[in-house]
Amino acid sequence: MTTMPSPPSSADLSVQTDRRLTPDQKIYVAGHRGLAGSAFWRALQQRGFGNLVGAPSAELDLRDRAATMDFVSAQRPDVMVVAAAKVGGILANDRYPAEFLSDNLRIQVNLMDAAREFGVGRLLFLGSSCIYPKFAEQPIAESALLTGALEPTNDAYAIAKIAGILQVQSIRKQYGLPYISAMPTNLYGPGDNFDATNSHVLPALIRRFHEARLTGADQVTIWGSGTPRREFLHVDDLASALVFLLEHYDSPEPINVGTGIDVTIRELAETIADVVGWEGRLAFDTSKPDGTPRKLLDVSRLRGLGWAPSLSLRDGVESTYRWFTRNLDTVRIEDGLVGLPR
Ligand SMILES: NC(=O)c1ccc[n+]([C@@H]2O[C@H](COP(=O)([O-])OP(=O)(O)OC[C@H]3O[C@@H](n4cnc5c(N)ncnc54)[C@H](OP(=O)(O)O)[C@@H]3O)[C@@H](O)[C@H]2O)c1
Repeated sequence: MTTMPSPPSSADLSVQTDRRLTPDQKIYVAGHRGLAGSAFWRALQQRGFGNLVGAPSAELDLRDRAATMDFVSAQRPDVMVVAAAKVGGILANDRYPAEFLSDNLRIQVNLMDAAREFGVGRLLFLGSSCIYPKFAEQPIAESALLTGALEPTNDAYAIAKIAGILQVQSIRKQYGLPYISAMPTNLYGPGDNFDATNSHVLPALIRRFHEARLTGADQVTIWGSGTPRREFLHVDDLASALVFLLEHYDSPEPINVGTGIDVTIRELAETIADVVGWEGRLAFDTSKPDGTPRKLLDVSRLRGLGWAPSLSLRDGVESTYRWFTRNLDTVRIEDGLVGLPR
């Protein structure tokens, strides 16, 4: 575990603004059925915002420029949150770089062009911590952007996201619109993807320990040494941060969203195994690559503005596992779960 980062300088606080969301505003959440988008949608509903707009990809393919323009022109939202993207784990990013680059560029360019053209007054673009250089100094400050080479397994995705940040900055510069970008750390929570090839490490481990419990397996093998350190943010905390940023942040610079706390993959696995109630042995396959030894965001800028997460990793994993077991028939697993084939 690490200690919380120190508070920001007074220069960071100068980006504080007051743009309270109001219930009469129409808010378009692009990607409202995804992990991040659905959490943000729930958070808005809980806060009493009823004028929400979203469209599933089967109805509106955001790669289609004309369809996106028509949709935004017809809806005329006041606020847009860009949480639609082609997202995946290391395997998917490594296998399908062409789609990760092309789909993401098209989705965000279409949405942001439409927003600018049809009078969207406030926009938040969601990037990712993978925009930062592979060997960035830890914890990673926003200023590390474009200071070194990217992790090659997801560079196509990262370059698309960096282009999105630049589009936000260019729109601000040229048109004076208060659009912003936020860079979340690894997310998890209700609505996550538990597929074997497309999932991230935390949902992948929930699924594997759950399967191990169902099958009575006494050992689970985890890729790598278990020593790399990673940071995880529950999507309900992300959603609260996004509401906060829309109301209080106004700067061309992207802002990191995370907990400021990291754990080793072994600690993560032990926490999940304990929550799932599986009591077998963890084996670490050190012939598999570890990736970057540590990846932790410097969240001092966001904390300095006054936002902090509310869920511990254990509480967050418990809520996610509860959701997973209650939604086994609809959860995102394309390849079938042991004991519950699709
Ligand atoms: N997951 C993470 O750990 C993480 C970490 C940092 C940043 N982020 C960022 O957060 C954002 C959302 O990620 P997520 O994890 O919520 O992803 P997700 O669960 O896969 O959701 C992605 C959403 O995008 C929509 N979408 C994808 N392609 C589309 C298309 N062609 N047309 C219309 N909609 C499309 C999907 O719509 P349908 O469901 O209708 O198909 C889905 O709702 C991304 O920008 C990602 O970079 C995620």
